[in-house]
Formats: sequence, structure tokens, C-alpha cells
Amino acid sequence: MLRTIYLIISVFCLWGCSHPQLKHLDFKAWERTPDCCSASGKSVGVASGGTFSSKAGLEIAQLGGNVVDIAVATAFALAVERPHSLGLGGGGFLTLYLADEKPTTIFVDFRETAPAKANPTMFLGPKGNLISGLSRYGILSVATPGFVPGLFTIHQKWGKLPWKTILRPAIHLAQKGFPIYLSLAKAIEEEREHLLKEPYTASLLFNKRGLLKTGDTLIQEDLARTLERVSKNPSWEFKTGTTAKLIDRFVREKGGILSISDLAHYRPEFRAPINHRWKDFVFVTAPPPSAGGVIMTEMLQTLAKDDLSHLSETDYLHLLTEAMKRAYSDRSRFIGDPDFSHEDITSLLTAEYGASLRKTISLDQATPAKEISPGAGLPKMGDHTTHLSVMDAAGNGAAMTLTINDHFGSRLAVPGTGIFLNDEMDDFSAKIGAPNLFGLLGGKANQIEPQKRPASSMSPTLLIKNGKVILSVGAAGGSKITSNTFEVILNVLFRFPNDLKHSVFAPRIHHQWSPDELQVEAGFLPAVISGLKEKGHNLREVDKAAIVQATFVDPLGNITAVYDPRDEGGAEAK
Ligand code: GLY
Repeated sequence: MLRTIYLIISVFCLWGCSHPQLKHLDFKAWERTPDCCSASGKSVGVASGGTFSSKAGLEIAQLGGNVVDIAVATAFALAVERPHSLGLGGGGFLTLYLADEKPTTIFVDFRETAPAKANPTMFLGPKGNLISGLSRYGILSVATPGFVPGLFTIHQKWGKLPWKTILRPAIHLAQKGFPIYLSLAKAIEEEREHLLKEPYTASLLFNKRGLLKTGDTLIQEDLARTLERVSKNPSWEFKTGTTAKLIDRFVREKGGILSISDLAHYRPEFRAPINHRWKDFVFVTAPPPSAGGVIMTEMLQTLAKDDLSHLSETDYLHLLTEAMKRAYSDRSRFIGDPDFSHEDITSLLTAEYGASLRKTISLDQATPAKEISPGAGLPKMGDHTTHLSVMDAAGNGAAMTLTINDHFGSRLAVPGTGIFLNDEMDDFSAKIGAPNLFGLLGGKANQIEPQKRPASSMSPTLLIKNGKVILSVGAAGGSKITSNTFEVILNVLFRFPNDLKHSVFAPRIHHQWSPDELQVEAGFLPAVISGLKEKGHNLREVDKAAIVQATFVDPLGNITAVYDPRDEGGAEAK
């Protein structure tokens, strides 16, 4: 009976049943139309930040690949299609659930790691002042990449198709090229000054007529050759092979500290994900060094007793903002690499702590951020980056977020390889209490130490119901990754039930405690905006929220893949 009602509502409700606020979405600014960005099927769905990358994932599915094969192939294709967001010079996180093996939740951390020669004062001047830009631009900003060792290990453990088959679509894409799309063209234009400093880096993104522009074809011959070497020698190409030697030589010439020994010693870490039982679901998400899972679980606990389906839009956004402020405040103090930091995060995840935070929230009035301090009440304790989501009808799911941090990372490409090196050292607290690229403050838990991993916002998340993944979701967008991933989860469960497309499209907010401002995207009804102002929120309108990719299976077994209309992407399903 329920299924029939659901079917009737779905058939009659398509776009016509839109929530009133969605009528204000600015599709023109996104260069999209309302019918974009999704695909449906019965057996598999892939959503990612790349048109050709999602197609690469589907190609692997059609060859009989499992969710791990699909995710790894999509990730390598993304490294070609989004050189400004991720790549072989970066790293990432994977949250995985394999329903058809011994059902288990898995988290793999293949994040970049501080080189052995890194130290807490490496970005400070003689008077302890932060040297502007050093942690973001140039060779000292580079941490040891984990992309290739991470994905190879993941594939070895859980993949099904041969490794060479998995890399084939990425190699073809690099050789054949693809037309430059809007956000890539913008990233090249914005980073022009830095990219032009190094002749090899410049040669990758400029042709005889100058800077590559929308519609020009980007062919990456060196990257194709590097991928071919990785395809032949996956276990040592990034440790002692040709690519490792080229990276080592380049870093030494530039006066950096990353060495071939750092590359040879890099190991992905298998960590226990945060598994939080919540209503009928198990919410599986990223543990530290990501702050994502801690922040989202803390917010879930804070809002656990609120009726999120029936609150007015203004009250809902107000409550969410207040929960965000408190959780992001805790991020600043407690999150760091768990192999180094001794902060106990378990108390942050409890129902008691959530309830104690909820008591401090008034439904009428915003709390000024300066009145919130990390851990108060505790018993004691873009479109950089990109995301891909995969799921199948058997209930298996993968959520993977990948990054090189800033656009084009350190803005340095290693001659002969086509690889942009990350600037992930900026995700550490370069100086305690000083904001990083995303305005995030960090404490001692996230201070630079050799071979430590910097705190992250990346939040690849799965929602499991009755032993099957029903939602795979995550985002790109710095500190907004966590808040926006969380908003889409609440949307699909409470605000736009079972409707993934509207859940991803809907305008979003972000508050990260410091600075004390509520970022709001265009598209909210004017009455909602004035309601939030009346409650005392300090609003700042922003062009774009984080970029979310997701796949979802509805109660009828239809799998929907949706990429975010705010940026380039691809959604495929069959
Ligand atoms: N580099 C962005 C993050 O890991 O949060």
C-alpha cells in the first residue's frame, strides 16, 4: 500500500511539486537547466565531479566491475578531468560498505602526510610570525601524496577486474583530451600568475595562443605516460620508480623537503569509521584526521529530538546554523591526526553532549559566536577537491573524496609527469590560532609534526538501512564540505523525502563558528532571509555552496545518481 502511494506521488510530483524555495534557484548562473544532472537505473549509479569520469565508472560497471572497481576507475579519470581539484599528487578518503561480502564498514585514509623533515615552525618567521603564502604556494606546501598507493591498496583488497582495465579509461582520456569546461577555465584564469612562474607548469595549461579557455581541448600526454607506468608497476612507481625519482629530483631542485624516502615509506591507513546508529539507519562516516564525521555526528545528536520535517524553513535553518556553530567550534580544538593527537573525541559524539549543546540554543535568537567555546559543557576534552559516489542494487556503496587542496595544489607540476603537487601542508595549523585557506582555526592537535596527517573536512558518508546502502554522499568545498554534506542528508530524509535531485539542488547555508557569519546561497525565499536576520544572524550572501555528489536508492529500488548543478559533473546509472 505504502509503495503504491509512493509510486503515485512520484509520478505526479516530478518538478511540478517543487518546494516553493526551489523556484528561486538561479539555473542561469550555474549555466544549467532544471532537467540536468541526474540519471536513474535499477542496478548501479555513479555521480562524480566529471562528465567523462562518471562515464568511465559506468564503462567499468558494464565490464562486470564491482563498486570498488567503479570508484577507483572514476577516481583515476577524475585525476585527468579535474587537474585543478585532485590528482596523483594528492590524496583522499574512502568510506566503503560491502553488503555482499561479510557486511562490514570500512574507512581508508590515503591522505597526504607531512614529510619527515617537516616541523611546527616551518612556516614561521624569526619573530614567530606566519610567513604569508608559504603554506599554500610553492614547494614547502607539498605533503607526501597518497593517491596512487591508496587506490592501489583499495583495489588489491576489494577490486575484481584487473588493475590495467581500471586505469584504461583514464589513460584514454588523458591521450584523447576533452574540452575545457567553465570551472576549469575559471581556475586556470584565477591562478594564472602562479601557474606562469614555472615553465613546465605553464606548458601544461597554455598553448601558442595563450591561456587555455573554455572549449579548448586539454590533452595531457605526460600524465598519460605516467598513468601507463602506474598501470604496469602499481606497487613501486610512486615509491622508487621513475615517477618517484622525477618528483624527488624536482623537489630537491626547488629546495623542498619531500624526499624519495617519504614516498617509499607512505602507507594508507585503515581506520574504524564513525558508525552512528540513528533512527532506522546506520550513519557511516569519516573519523579523524577528518573533522567531517565528528561534526556531523555531533550535529545529529544536537538535533536528535527536533522534528526536522515540520519546522518552518526559517526555524529549521536557524537550528541548523546554531548546531553548526557549536560543532565547528569543537573542530578548532579537538581534531588532528589520531596517530599523534591525544584528544578524546568520543565524548563529542554522545547523546548527552548533543543534548547539553541543544539546551544552549534558543529558537528565537542567534547565539553570538564569541559566547561559544570549544568543548564548553563537556565532561572533559570547491570547488577545490572533488567527490564521487557509487552504489549498486545489492546494497554495496562507496563514497570517496579526493583533493590536492587549493586549485592546482601548490601550483607546481613535476616536469615530465603531468602531476600537480598538492599544498596540503596548509591544512595543518601553520600557526596556532591563525586561519588557514578556508578561514578555519586550528589548535595543538593539528600542529605540524613529521609524518603526521593534517586535519580535513572531507566527509565521505554512507547511510545504511536494513543492511544495504541507501545513500552515498560527499562534497568538495573546503570547510563547507561537512555542513553541506549534512544538509543534503537531512534534505533527503526530512525536507525533500526520497527526492535526491531536489535535495542536492536546494540552496544551502554554512556557519563555521569563526568568523561569526552565516553564509547563505542565493535561492532562499525573501521571508526566510528576513526571518533569519530577525533572529540575530549575521548573513553573508555567497555565490555558491559546496559541490555535492550523491547516489540514492528509493523505496521502490530505483537508483538515482545526481551531480551538483553548481559545477561540472556527471551522473550515470543503468
Ligand atoms: N584540503 C581540504 C580538506 O581536506 O579539507
